[in-house]
Amino acid sequence: MAKLKIRIFPDPDLRVKADKVESVGQAEKDLLADMALTMYLSQGVGLAATQVGISKSLVVIDVGDGLIKLVNPIITKKEGAQVSEEGCLSVPGECIKIKRAKIVVVNFLNEDGEPSRIKGEGLFAKAVQHELDHLSGKLIIDYLNPIKKLLTRTKSCRRI
Ligand code: NI
Repeated sequence: MAKLKIRIFPDPDLRVKADKVESVGQAEKDLLADMALTMYLSQGVGLAATQVGISKSLVVIDVGDGLIKLVNPIITKKEGAQVSEEGCLSVPGECIKIKRAKIVVVNFLNEDGEPSRIKGEGLFAKAVQHELDHLSGKLIIDYLNPIKKLLTRTKSCRRI
C-alpha cells in the first residue's frame, strides 16, 4: 500500500468527472486500499478517487463505524435535511455550512464487484453526498454564498 498525493484546490484534477468503473479488478482493489490508507493518514473521514488524480468512480468512507469502499456509488433515495459545517482534505482551512439530506440510500458495487446497498444517516450520509460531489467535480466552495462568505466560514470541522 502507498500513500497517494491528495490534490489541493485549485488543482484542475478536482474538476474532472469520474468515469464509471466497468469491471472491478485488482487495480481497483489496490487503489481502494491506497485511498483508505491516504484517508486515514490525512485524518479525513472520506476520500474520492478524483482527489488523488484518478478519474474512476471510487470512494472510501470511515466515519468511525468501519471502512466502506464504494464503486460506482449512486444515491437512490434522500430523506430529511441536515445543515452543518464541512471541511475537505482538498480545500484546507475552509469549513463551509452546507445543507444535505439527513438520510441516504446508496447503491454501489463492493470491491468484489457485487451489487450492494447501504442506508445511512448523519455524518455518514453527509460524507456520501460530499464524495459523490467530488466524483462529479464539485467542491464545498461551490456552495458558498458570496455575500455570506465570511459569516459561514469557521476554522474547525471534520474534513471529508
Ligand atoms: Ni472532500
